[in-house]
Amino acid sequence: MPDRREGVALGPDGLRSLDGLKAATMACRECPIGEFATQSVIGEGKLKPRLMLVGEQPGDKEDLEGHPFVGPAGKLLARALEAAGIPREQTFVSNAVKHFKFELRGKRRIHKSPTQREAAACLHWLEDEIALVRPRALVALGSTAARSLVGRAVPVMAERGHWMQREDGRKVLITLHPSALLRVLPDDREEAFAAFVKDLKQARKLLASATPAA
Ligand code: URA
Repeated sequence: MPDRREGVALGPDGLRSLDGLKAATMACRECPIGEFATQSVIGEGKLKPRLMLVGEQPGDKEDLEGHPFVGPAGKLLARALEAAGIPREQTFVSNAVKHFKFELRGKRRIHKSPTQREAAACLHWLEDEIALVRPRALVALGSTAARSLVGRAVPVMAERGHWMQREDGRKVLITLHPSALLRVLPDDREEAFAAFVKDLKQARKLLASATPAA
């Protein structure tokens, strides 16, 4: 449970700012991923937003540039948010895991999914971030984010487009990770994109409602 001092919600590590989170995650070696990544990548966007979107981990481009969702999956996410009527600048976008995990094949760095243990090691940083950002609700992009946000394995295909609840009371919309859409066969891409946008439209309803962030 976040600690509260001087009216500021503090996460499990008592961090007071996103700069503090960046510095702490840069130094983090609680799992083996951090040692090989260029840098940690924390979230960016609006504070106290109606929506915080959480992906899996930074990709190759994000690792090099230090910003979340700036590569191909990020571009697809941006298109889907626009199609769903969700201005990205009104959201905060982050990841469950703060370092890029990859396997070297020749000179190429190939994405590797984080293990459950690695995602669990990163969870306290994500909780710090949520405590600092104070979103009203969250969107879990894929199974790693869903497990980190609701604390148990979530069957994403069965639960997509549905809201779940976290222990802190915040609602979490479950949907796919945009990179899953990048792997869909060309003939099925339009339909897959439309289904993703339909999921995100559930979250759009929240932007229109009156209750401010906690
Ligand atoms: N995939 C993610 O989950 N996050 C990013 O920032 C980029 C790709």
